[in-house]
Amino acid sequence: MHTPDFIIDFRHQFPFFNNQLNSPISQAYLDNAATTHICQPALDSIADYYQYHHANVHRSSHQLALGTSNQFESIRQKTADWLNAAEKDEIVWTKGATEAANLIANGLCESHLQAGDEIIIALSEHHAHFVTWQQLAKKYQLELTIAKLDEQLRIDLQALHTQISDKTRVIALAHVNNATGVKQPVEEIIELATNNNIITIIDGSQAINHMPINVQQLACDFYFFSAHKMYAGTGLGVCYGKKSRLIALPPYQYGGEMVKQVSLTESEFNQLPYKFEAGTPNISGVFALGATLDFLANQNLNKLRAYEHKLTEYLIEQLKKRSAISLLATEQLTGAVSFIIKDFHSADAAELLSQMGIAIRSGSHCAMPLIQSIAPGGSLRVSIAAYTLIEEIDYFLSCLDQLDDFL
Ligand SMILES: Cc1ncc(COP(=O)(O)O)c(C=O)c1O
Repeated sequence: MHTPDFIIDFRHQFPFFNNQLNSPISQAYLDNAATTHICQPALDSIADYYQYHHANVHRSSHQLALGTSNQFESIRQKTADWLNAAEKDEIVWTKGATEAANLIANGLCESHLQAGDEIIIALSEHHAHFVTWQQLAKKYQLELTIAKLDEQLRIDLQALHTQISDKTRVIALAHVNNATGVKQPVEEIIELATNNNIITIIDGSQAINHMPINVQQLACDFYFFSAHKMYAGTGLGVCYGKKSRLIALPPYQYGGEMVKQVSLTESEFNQLPYKFEAGTPNISGVFALGATLDFLANQNLNKLRAYEHKLTEYLIEQLKKRSAISLLATEQLTGAVSFIIKDFHSADAAELLSQMGIAIRSGSHCAMPLIQSIAPGGSLRVSIAAYTLIEEIDYFLSCLDQLDDFL
């Protein structure tokens, strides 16, 4: 099998792969769940911002700053459209998915939740979500209920019905799990939650690059992700919240731009979304996200996603043929496949593969509660993007087969 031409063309838009100096250390970059490479238009837009548009936003009234602020807000609108949010003010910029998780959870604890209320969270959550709720549950005397998973590491819906009680206030869940690549049945869970008046917070970090996201159709209360997981730059997160929910949340941080009026004793907070954006935001990061969204809008995303799907199936099929390998899950995998090798510690295997130019992740993938319960020595995770070549997967498989020599 060979990579189709349209994927090679797509890959050419990513400068990392066009630089021969990168090849020895990254002959197969299969760590896209950790971060994706930046696309050329996003990289160009960062230089463009600093060369021609560099000004702070929403502060000064000179022409340069006004132009930059307008462009900054037009990208907020573009992001809202990308997610089909009802309004651009439902999009809050954060520094990443982690900050978004903290912003929402802290806000709900301060404004909505009371001691004894229950939060349902999956065992498989990324630490960004898991640790945040674990720590806040202690601080605010909330009950943390761990949703049960089935054999395929999907939320067990029947069990969830029984786990929900009249004290359940929040369900916090990743759309796609980063440690296993398993897509969760978020549509059914959100419906169940909404029928029970429960707030839903969906971590879309591993979904955003692999499927269309329509927050109004999902009808979740919050949805968040990091821009660097979808070909834009690091240091920028997108935190969507339904307007009524965001209005009800208190600010997360205090400072400039999030206030309208300040006296010696009182401050009046700014309107949405600025009330959550204290201090100078990551302006170049926003420009890069805008350029990425334009770039993606010009691609045949259905075709790219169908390719990713086939590539994942191919990888699963090939791994299943190897008797020393056990996959953590095999169904509904999106972008990532996680497995263990008999008699091999995941860190040792990853180190040997790294010496052969393979970039994959090993260990607990910031999801220790899950990985320690099913693979105490950690797992290996291969994660792909639309620019991943079939030849990279084949090279990885051939290196994997060489690991036997080290046993
Ligand atoms: C599912 C999930 N949630 C949250 C995060 C945290 O993202 P960031 O480190 O960009 O804040 C990640 C990153 O790997 C993730 O995969």
